[in-house]
Amino acid sequence: MKIAIYPGSFNPWHPGHTNVVEQALKVFDKVIIARGLNPDKLTGEEFLMQLKDTSFVNVPIPDWSGLVDVTSFTGLLTDFVKQTHAHAVIKGLRNAQDLEYERAQEYWNNVLGLNIPTYYVMAPAHLLHYSSSALRTLNTFKKGK
Ligand code: PNS
Repeated sequence: MKIAIYPGSFNPWHPGHTNVVEQALKVFDKVIIARGLNPDKLTGEEFLMQLKDTSFVNVPIPDWSGLVDVTSFTGLLTDFVKQTHAHAVIKGLRNAQDLEYERAQEYWNNVLGLNIPTYYVMAPAHLLHYSSSALRTLNTFKKGK
């Protein structure tokens, strides 16, 4: 069984993330969504609730039962990956800015001893405008109403 690990901060989860998982499932048998924990941000419980709240992202999250695990980690991604049986890390790219950021992340992960490849999937055109930071801003205004 081929397993991909999809790490990120996912703060919040959005349709671009959903699309990365969908693309990964075309090649891998299982995807582990691994949220890097920042103590200042959401708790694991809050994240799971958000992931289940389809109204938050405006599109339903597909039925991934059995295909997707959701977990979280603290510390280095490299160390976490070694505790899993993942065969590849998967990341999404929207633009050149993402590419530059991810290139540096991959470099450090490899220096730190990541022993599986990192693969990238491109966001489709209709999802290019989604970013967690834009959604956080929009959400702030919603909360103000
Ligand atoms: O793409 P994102 O959402 O910014 O990724 C966040 C995350 C959690 C995947 C990334 O920050 C991470 O891997 N954090 C753990 C620390 C680490 O291993 N950093 C890579 C070396 S600098």
